[in-house]
Amino acid sequence: MNLFNYREGELFCEDLPISQIAETAGTPFYLYSKNTLLRHYGRFESSLAGIEHLICFAFKANSSLAILKVLADAGSGADVVSGGELFRALRVGIPPRKVVFNGNAKTEKELRTALDCDVLMFNIDSESELNLLSRVAREMGRTARVALRVNPDIDPRTHPYISTGLKENKFGIAIENAVEFYKQAADMPNIEVVGIHKHIGSQIVELSPFVESLERVIGLVAELNQLGLGLRFVDMGGGIGITYDNEEPPSFEEYVSAVRPLIRNSGCTLIVEPGRVIVGNAGVLVTRVLHVKTTGSKKFVVVDAAMNDLIRPSIYGAFHRIIPVKYRDDAARTMVADVVGGICESADFFARGRELPELEPGELIAIMSAGAYGSTMSSNYNSRPLIAEVMVDGTQQKVIRRRQTFEEMVALESF
Ligand code: LLP
Repeated sequence: MNLFNYREGELFCEDLPISQIAETAGTPFYLYSKNTLLRHYGRFESSLAGIEHLICFAFKANSSLAILKVLADAGSGADVVSGGELFRALRVGIPPRKVVFNGNAKTEKELRTALDCDVLMFNIDSESELNLLSRVAREMGRTARVALRVNPDIDPRTHPYISTGLKENKFGIAIENAVEFYKQAADMPNIEVVGIHKHIGSQIVELSPFVESLERVIGLVAELNQLGLGLRFVDMGGGIGITYDNEEPPSFEEYVSAVRPLIRNSGCTLIVEPGRVIVGNAGVLVTRVLHVKTTGSKKFVVVDAAMNDLIRPSIYGAFHRIIPVKYRDDAARTMVADVVGGICESADFFARGRELPELEPGELIAIMSAGAYGSTMSSNYNSRPLIAEVMVDGTQQKVIRRRQTFEEMVALESF
């Protein structure tokens, strides 16, 4: 469900025509619908009614301050994976007691900062990391609340680069070693074991991997309870998929109904770390067609955005719908083309062999479902400045990040 819809052949974001926004914002730019964002967050929140829970939005999906602020004001906590993301959480006023610190490579400096502001919980990825945290906490005279990230060895049946819950992946502790690790952790100085964490992957479109992995985790919680190691939090991670093309991922209600009985039995507070499902379909990338060219039998639509702005098709072969911002009268005429950017790499594409309406230079197109892992994964490759981001609320538009200037792009450099 999102608020990008056609009205009389013209694509709108909420109540504003996108072509009008492009006139002031310039292209390319990211465009977000505030009310889509709020709707997604609100639906997840209300599905969770009756379960002790905390939604910790996964900042890696989109960490623009304005997006975070909307979610913070709606009550969201944060899943952060770096000192930078923690900084953003504090900047938008998320209480540290709603922050979980994830990641498999936290540095001593990051641990110190997070301990200093007293985050809710550190999700621990390895024994070595736990040793480091224990030492740092002791030096600071603090106690660190921790959850251990277990790897339940469940196949999330998603793209291999975003699968994390299989034995061969780099994340977490093998579930069969977890009890031993928990016993050790409970005896470590300045460490308080409060939870268990798992995250098996992203863009998961079936319920069963979530349920099976949670069953394994809840089994472990029961075992730990018997050993007197009662836990307070079960952190399910993120991973709920969205519709990019014709996927039919579980709804919030289906997801929550499936996990509710398991969580209830555990007696724990549920933490979820959704990213994509909150913000993915709340954003699009608007770009202008620069050229249409034919080489041999192939047609290319060259646009002013490129893989540095949205790298998902290049890395994961990800599908994003591409639609015109204005339907022309002859929209029934279609062509098959690759939609490409201006970067000097053949991997620089948004679509390959895609059937599209006949497009002409100067036209605007929208690359859909770009709200998650779009802006956050962008770069200055080919010395292309970071693009603008705009948020719409009803009939209001606001530039939430202005386009980077060339001067800003080189500001940290010297010769
Ligand atoms: N929690 C943890 C520990 C994670 O590693 C992730 C995502 C999330 C939560 C949020 O997952 P989500 O609800 O967004 O699926 N760049 C890739 C996705 C990488 C996901 C990494 N971890 C993409 O563009 O598809």
